[in-house]
Parts: sequence; structure tokens; C-alpha cells
Amino acid sequence: MSKLKILVVDDEPGYQREIKEYLSSCGFSVFTAGLPSAALKIINTEAIDIAIIDLRLPEMDGLTLMRKVREIDAEIGVIMISGHGDMQTVLHAMREGAIDFFPKPFNLMDIRLAIERTVKYIDLQNELSEIKTTCENLLEMMNQNSRIPLLGESPGMKEVFRLMSQVSPSRNTDVLIQGESGTGKELVARGIHYLGLGKEKVFFDVNCTAIPDSLFESEFFGHTRNAFTGALTDKKGRFEIANGGTLFLDEIGDLPLAMQAKLLRVLEERTVRKVGSNLDIPLNLRVIASTNKDLKALIESKLFREDLFYRLSRFPIYIPALRDRREDIAPLLELYNRHFSTALKKPYKKISEKSLNRLLTYQYPGNVRELKNMMEKAIILSDAQSRELNLNCFPELNLEACPPVGLVDEANLDLAGLEAMEMEMINCAMHKSGNNRTHAAALLKISRSSLNRRIEKHGLDYS
Ligand SMILES: Nc1ncnc2c1ncn2[C@@H]1O[C@H](COP(=O)(O)OP(=O)(O)OP(=O)(O)O)[C@@H](O)[C@H]1O
Ligand SMILES: [Mg+2]
Repeated sequence: MSKLKILVVDDEPGYQREIKEYLSSCGFSVFTAGLPSAALKIINTEAIDIAIIDLRLPEMDGLTLMRKVREIDAEIGVIMISGHGDMQTVLHAMREGAIDFFPKPFNLMDIRLAIERTVKYIDLQNELSEIKTTCENLLEMMNQNSRIPLLGESPGMKEVFRLMSQVSPSRNTDVLIQGESGTGKELVARGIHYLGLGKEKVFFDVNCTAIPDSLFESEFFGHTRNAFTGALTDKKGRFEIANGGTLFLDEIGDLPLAMQAKLLRVLEERTVRKVGSNLDIPLNLRVIASTNKDLKALIESKLFREDLFYRLSRFPIYIPALRDRREDIAPLLELYNRHFSTALKKPYKKISEKSLNRLLTYQYPGNVRELKNMMEKAIILSDAQSRELNLNCFPELNLEACPPVGLVDEANLDLAGLEAMEMEMINCAMHKSGNNRTHAAALLKISRSSLNRRIEKHGLDYS
């Protein structure tokens, strides 16, 4: 291993010499500077591992110098020394990341031990960052391998694409994506990120449901060393990690109320402050929030802040349910049929006509995710003899309450049931459209007059 490089910054030549002689005799490579400007020159040219800095210096104080040193290289370990026991400054230095502090006169042995501790700490940090990089690479590889295009041919999805390309260039515009579970909210969020910033910038995905209440603050804002019991090191919060890129807040509807207020403040001020710190960190990022919950209903039951909702919905994107954009079903089936045939190393088989008819009219309560899972299962279930993916491969279809017209067999001839089903469908469409008959008729794929006739026939009342 090469010699550890230590820089001693002290304007008293006596101390400078004494420390240099001792540390050189311990086998370290030692540089010295009496002035901060000289120290910064050395930092810029030598790969210094540890800087020992006196608090009181000409030109600038040791604390300012420490900040500048860490701006140049955040990995340099800093040990502070001082002849003046100014506790406030010492505390400040420690909070901002100094690794140790020694009042003068100090025992040189102690400095040496502090250096050894620091080296261990730096080694651990390096190890950690190596592990992180490996994980990131792995994730990236996984993403590359399973990269699936965001597909959509329906007018509903074309509108989503239009909004995505409209918002992606303005990198600080926050976005709210709403839609049922499995409609592709995360895929759309990633799409906005990649369109605007490319692959290099960070896309940080945070599931708001998965963080315990007590950890929210430190998870989102980070904390300084010693900010509270157990905070052994400085920790970056999620906003800071995502800085420069995109922070994806998944399941925003589950964010506790107290955190909602704090999130709103961050969105407005575009700065964060670590727990235990009084420094504001400026943010340059986009927040994309998503939810499958009805935020308006949550607002009514006082579970979601109205002001946060309006702040987030400056750029809203709504992804329609798959059953409301049936044009997308066939292309999605084809996409995932090919995808899973390859992934599962099975021969590609066409979907039989009977299955396809049923798949095109199925309700997909779990949306694209369900379709994807169904396709995967179908390919696994398909036996070697059959040349097509037949109804046996899609057990979900056989469980559906009412088979679509045209595929009824003797076992379920039930006209009364059909009438009840029709009423239910009308009810559902009217409810969805907020009693708007034109919209409901479009959902039911019948004309408005046909809907009126059926409402009358069943004696339904939507006044
Ligand atoms: N338009 C699409 N084209 C291709 N694949 C899609 C599309 N929409 C969704 N998917 C796939 O469906 C699955 C679910 O998508 P995603 O995780 O984005 O849904 P979500 O809306 O975030 O769901 P949830 O609310 O449950 O978190 C993913 O595997 C995704 O790749
Ligand atoms: Mg999701």
C-alpha cells in the first residue's frame, strides 16, 4: 500500500515541525502549510488522505478551510486542533464532519491513534461505496435485460405520451401520476425521467408506504452525525440523493399528514435541511408523485392535505384503466407473449382465437400488471403438444363471472343473469362517469339513445 498522505495546516512553525517530524517517523508522508491558500494548493495537487487543521488561521478560520477542502474532495478526513477551547466552534466542526478534535497542547500519540481510526473509517466508506456501485450496476443490468417499452395505441395512452414529452424538458416541474394499480405509473415516471435527463442521472424510487413514521424525517432529509442518539455518521436524505435527477414518491396517498406538510415546504422552497443541521441544501430535481388512491376522497376524509394536492397537481397525468382502452390489449398481449417466450425459453405460440376473444373483453381489475402475469402463466401452463395458447392456459378467464356474448356455452345459459349483468354494467358506467350519459354510453360502447332505452327498460333512476 502507498504511504498515507497527511497535510498539516498550522501557522505556528513550532507545532508544524513537531507534528511533521513525529508523523514522518510513523511512516506517513507529511505535507505542511502555514496558510489556507497554500493548503488548498496542496489539496489540489496531492491526493491527500487526511488534513490536520488548526482552528485559528490567517486568511480564513479552520472551519471555512475545512469546508473548502471538502468541496474539493469530500473524502478527505479532517482532524481539528486548536489552542482555544471554543466549544461552540468545536461542536460546529464536528457536526460538519470533522472526525476528531484535539485541544493544544496535545499528545502526539493521540493524533496518531486518531489517524489510524480515520484510516479505518475511510476504508469502510470506500468498501461501502464499492458495494453500492456494484449494486447499482447490477440493478442497471437487470433493468437493461428486462427493459420493456411503454406501449400504447389507444387515444388514452397517446394523450399520456403527449403529456410526458411536454413535461420532460422542464426538469423542475413536479408531476402527479394517478391511475389504478398496475396501469403503468412507475413506467411512465421512469419514461419522463429518461426523456428529460437520460440514463446517467439518478432516478430514486421511494415507496412512501414502506417507511416507518419515526424514520420519515431522517430518511427524507438526512441527518448530521450526532443529531440524535444512534446517528453515528452523517446521512444523506432521499431528496439529497435524488438531487440532480428525479425523486419518485410512490404511493403518495400513504404519506402521513405531518410529513405532507414538510414535503409541501420542500416543494415550495426547493431546499432541504438535515436533521441536526442549520444549513439549507439547494435542490435541483423533479419530484414525481404517484398514487392509485382517490386523493380527492382522502382530502375529504382529512387524510390528505389539499394544499399539497394542488401543489402536486400542477402537472397531473391520469393513466386510464386497461379496460377503458381496449385497443391496447392486443398489442400488450403480443409484447408479453414474445417477451416471456424468450425469457422462459419456450417456443413462441399464437394465442388461439377463442382465448383472444375472451382476453379482449376481459375486465383486467389488475390492469397491465395482471395481463402481464396472465401471459407469463399461460406460457408456463401451455403443454408441449398444443400449437396455440388455448383457454386452458388462461384459468383467470374461466373464473370471470359473466362470459362475453358469443362465447356462451350450455353450462351457463342464463338470460336472467344477463339482464342483471346489464344493469350492473350500466350502474357501474353511470357511477364512473358521474352520471354523464354521453360518457357512460361511450364506456359501454353503445349509443346514448341505446343507453337511455336500457335505463328505461330496467326502471333505473339517475336523477
Ligand atoms: N403501457 C405499458 N406497456 C408495457 N408494459 C406496461 C405498460 N404499463 C404497465 N406495464 C407493465 O405492467 C407492470 C405494472 O406497471 P407499474 O409497476 O408501472 O404499475 P403501477 O401503476 O405503478 O402499479 P401500482 O399502483 O400497483 O404500483 C410493469 O411490469 C410494467 O412493465
Ligand atoms: Mg407502482
